[in-house]
Amino acid sequence: MAAEKIFYTSKLVIVWQLLFATLQISGIDSNLNLPTNHLKYYFNSFPKVADECRNDPGCPYKSHLDTKACWGYESNCKTENAFSTPRCPGDHKGWVSSKKAQIDTFYSQGDFGYVRDQRKELTMLCEPLFLDDSSLECSEHMRFCRGRNIMINFTNLVNKKEPIRYKMDVLEEGQIGGHCRLYEQRLNDNTDQMSPLQSWGPELKNFRELPHRPIQHGDCDVIIKEPTYIMKIDAVVNMYHHFCDFLNLYASLHVNQSHPSSFSTENHIMVWESYSYRSAFQDTFSAFTSNPLWDLKTFRGKVVCFKNVVFPLLPRMIFGLFYNTPLVYGCEGSGLFTAFSEFILHRLHVPLYNRNNSKIRVTLLSRDTQYRRILNEDELVEALKKNSRYEVQKVVYNKMIPFKQQLEITRNSDIFIGIHGAGLTHFLFLPEWAVGFELYNCEDVNCYKDLARLKGVKYLTWENRSKLMEHDPETHPHNGAHAKFINYEFDVDEFLKIVKKAEKHVKNHDAFKKFIERRAEWQVKADERRPRSEEL
Ligand SMILES: *[C@@H]1O[C@H](CO)[C@@H](O)[C@H](O)[C@H]1NC(C)=O
Ligand SMILES: *[C@@H]1O[C@H](CO)[C@@H](O)[C@H](O)[C@H]1NC(C)=O
Ligand SMILES: *[C@@H]1O[C@H](CO)[C@@H](O)[C@H](O)[C@H]1NC(C)=O
Ligand SMILES: *[C@@H]1O[C@H](CO)[C@@H](O)[C@H](O)[C@H]1NC(C)=O
Repeated sequence: MAAEKIFYTSKLVIVWQLLFATLQISGIDSNLNLPTNHLKYYFNSFPKVADECRNDPGCPYKSHLDTKACWGYESNCKTENAFSTPRCPGDHKGWVSSKKAQIDTFYSQGDFGYVRDQRKELTMLCEPLFLDDSSLECSEHMRFCRGRNIMINFTNLVNKKEPIRYKMDVLEEGQIGGHCRLYEQRLNDNTDQMSPLQSWGPELKNFRELPHRPIQHGDCDVIIKEPTYIMKIDAVVNMYHHFCDFLNLYASLHVNQSHPSSFSTENHIMVWESYSYRSAFQDTFSAFTSNPLWDLKTFRGKVVCFKNVVFPLLPRMIFGLFYNTPLVYGCEGSGLFTAFSEFILHRLHVPLYNRNNSKIRVTLLSRDTQYRRILNEDELVEALKKNSRYEVQKVVYNKMIPFKQQLEITRNSDIFIGIHGAGLTHFLFLPEWAVGFELYNCEDVNCYKDLARLKGVKYLTWENRSKLMEHDPETHPHNGAHAKFINYEFDVDEFLKIVKKAEKHVKNHDAFKKFIERRAEWQVKADERRPRSEEL
């Protein structure tokens, strides 16, 4: 049976890889590499590229041309053509005055409306007067900036003894600049959120007008021609925080979208730290760049000129994404988050497997940590397994399972269960019909509920506190009283009741029904083909 499973899955992977390969060898843009359902938005953003494809008999994307599809932030984008609109089944009263205001608010807070507003806010801080001049543009509070022909002087970094991370004094006055007309007042007005991960103020307040063009004048020890994204990142050990980095990088590709190469990986990413980057989630960077990451050691002691530099949205912005995002009550389903999820899963080659039955796949995430453990985990899993409608697995997402494999398990789960913790960031990669069941939120009520809302998956959690038991490990006297530093035992019947609710949601979801039907058809076709593939 195991062998059969391997055969079954490897065949699917091959089919998938063939599909992937055809997309790769297109003459239009060999780097396009986007999820199939994103192509029409891409082509509609770049009419010239669409024209090229139209006129090229070999272009494989022809069925994605000539639509009105738009992401949602373009100035001429009509709601009915947009990637998605939020669903707002919940009451709007007490928050906003109308249903429309509720939808609009959610769209601006956590959807492509956020991108739209950043684009609207872009203001020239340093204006080019001639073609080869520099330029610097930012959105309000310097949340997002981009520049051309920018000089950064890293000479002084050789003298810094302390390692650099979350620091605001990496640059000094004049160590960043360009040849352009600097609007000093605007620059100062926008340096009002001075915190390392909230804005680019700490760096760009040092921006100065140069008396000559740095590249032509020969000021630069190194000239970087490829687009470079400079990133100030959050805690890389924590999936929740690190994915704030990745989501904001993805959103920034959209904010900057103005050139057909916007989704290309022919670029550089520089991490604004002197520590060498390493993370259990580091594979995710391959969705964004095909080059090794740079950090503040890379050009220590050098003057570097960037022809095209982007300072992306940051992970801890005030009213940012998705850490502490204020979200209007009653809405869910952000297109931005859906697009991000699809983009990452596509670029990391994480497959969605065909099903040959309609069983509900239940995944229980176990924590191998001291706190917030589910003490009667095995009892819960056994109880689930007694139900023949479920296919149950218990997983521990630690370094024994590579991150991409974790994503693969998640992507193929219908109900994903776990206690409060960064592992629940996997909610981002569940299929649209799925349920994220936060077994217990440990009194942090909004964190994963909001993440599930943004991703547009159903969220459930434990409601009845008298049906769970708290075990306080005496080993941690300082934190013993806090809900996040104890372990839990759950009432089995109550647990099954909630899972049943989740099951009902999945089974009634149109996308799930379609998926199962489509898979059933696929299975018939696969069975017909099987003798031939065995001949080979
Ligand atoms: C259905 O798929 C599972 C793996 O997903 C495999 O173990 C099983 O043998 C398959 N059954 C049939 C009838 O193909
Ligand atoms: C870079 O900074 C160093 C140290 O402050 C300075 O001596 C040098 O002139 C600067 N180079 C440029 C091109 O501004
Ligand atoms: C970012 O936007 C600028 C300005 O429109 C553009 O020139 C540049 O190519 C963009 N960068 C990327 C990587 O798309
Ligand atoms: C919670 O559980 C207790 C103990 O089993 C029960 O008496 C109570 O009715 C439950 N509360 C709700 C709201 O279901």
